Amino acid sequence: MALRTWVVALGCCVSFGMAGLACAASSTAQVTVHADRPGAVIHREIYGQFAEQLGRGIDAGIWVGEASSIPNVHGFRKDVVEALKAIHVPVIRWPGGCFADEYHWRDGIGPRDKRAVRPNYSWGGEERNAVGTHEFMEFAELVGAQTYLAANMGTGSPREMSEWLEYLTGDGQTDLARERRANGRAQPWQVAYLGIGNESWGCGGHMRGAYYADQYRQYATFARTLSGPNLQRVASGANADDYAWTEAVMAGAAEQIDAYGVHYYTLPTGDWKHKGNAVGFGEDQWIGTLKAALRMDELVTKHSAIMDKYDPARRIALAVDEWGTWYDTEPGASALYQQNSLRDAMVAAITLGIFHAHAERVRMANIAQMVNVLQAMILTDKARMVLTPTYHVFDLYQVFQGATALPVEVRADEYAHGGVRVPGLFVTAARGTDGAVHVALVNPDPQRTQRVALAVRGLKVGTVRGRMLSAPAIDTVNTFERPEAVKPVAFTGGTVGSDGAVAVSMPAKAIVVLELR
Ligand code: AHR
Repeated sequence: MALRTWVVALGCCVSFGMAGLACAASSTAQVTVHADRPGAVIHREIYGQFAEQLGRGIDAGIWVGEASSIPNVHGFRKDVVEALKAIHVPVIRWPGGCFADEYHWRDGIGPRDKRAVRPNYSWGGEERNAVGTHEFMEFAELVGAQTYLAANMGTGSPREMSEWLEYLTGDGQTDLARERRANGRAQPWQVAYLGIGNESWGCGGHMRGAYYADQYRQYATFARTLSGPNLQRVASGANADDYAWTEAVMAGAAEQIDAYGVHYYTLPTGDWKHKGNAVGFGEDQWIGTLKAALRMDELVTKHSAIMDKYDPARRIALAVDEWGTWYDTEPGASALYQQNSLRDAMVAAITLGIFHAHAERVRMANIAQMVNVLQAMILTDKARMVLTPTYHVFDLYQVFQGATALPVEVRADEYAHGGVRVPGLFVTAARGTDGAVHVALVNPDPQRTQRVALAVRGLKVGTVRGRMLSAPAIDTVNTFERPEAVKPVAFTGGTVGSDGAVAVSMPAKAIVVLELR
């Protein structure tokens, strides 16, 4: 059973041109959480991250080298590692992205000063390979995350991929296991996921779906580990709404696929040539971005329906292994570097809520990307680091990792601006591993406070506690000078009546996560 958030429009004051006072008098939203009808477990892995050899995502972002004056553990920034540990990142995807299909793992092993220097054809500049297999695997261990490696199908071979896995996971006396030991790692590593090609419809080789499916079958046959967990083989899935690709890949290779990746990026304008700015935007781009983020629900629903035809038991996970906002890069900034505002926090909260609603099928996701690239958790500038509003959503939503999704019904006014309409309230709920019911509410309206009457079926609520993320403006960001302009605060706008009903007063443009017991 797919869980859904029902949103019923009760009319919208904005459409009557009464955005100010009249909106303040909007009706109370009615929310019912069904704690008596538990759904699927929300896999921790939907809180996964993605780190590509791109711009300052890895070099300077996570890696500074042992000789750096920036505090580091074996070359990895201590501040970044600690921040990522604090949000319990479950899985990290590496080395790409487009870069994966030009990456040859042998370039990144052995003495660092002797490693190959290659052009980074995908993103410009030269790749020194300072962070290779040993470094990435150690980084994931430091963070406490599982690993999701992306194998090179575009310019690699089944043999190269298979030897990489042997090098990583060999626990015997094979040449490659001994080579790994000689390079400093005695124990085999654990590889949880292996992507086979990336965006094979585009930068990964401009293949057609049926051809990719055949290639995938061949590679998947030789994607074997020698120790550790069962390897989950991830097929390179569709670009956004390319349902023909899903149809072709499922028809051709479903039996060999463990997870199927889909990529979808949220652009304020929908135009790849003029995507829009990360800051300094107006309400038209605020609501346009939220509307675009909402498309994820339709994409997941439709791809999943095609998968159902070939995999009715839902053995194959849908992995949204690239998602997030993508803005125009500011002149002079490193590749795909963008600021991250309250709007990004809203996109993260809405998207994660959609994944919760599809918990049965969506079992991994990887936001693009972890540090200094696209919708990042963390931005760095030499020794300085800031946590972005998106990071704070991943922090607030930690209670949903491994929780059991609960159905939710919502009746709320819509929020509209400039002819664009979106639901006036987004809600997701789950029973946490701590036994509490956690409810996240998102009020996207930048002007209007939203009163909410919240009923929980199957739980007599006794106490309510909460945390909130908001900001003075829709484009407020954390900067190196003001790193805490957007950060979570305690939320005191929820009260419990004697009957267990909860009344919430949601401030404008706010994300609130409640803990109900
Ligand atoms: O995340 C940036 C790029 O977006 C990735 O390298 C690629 O897979 C996608 O097009």
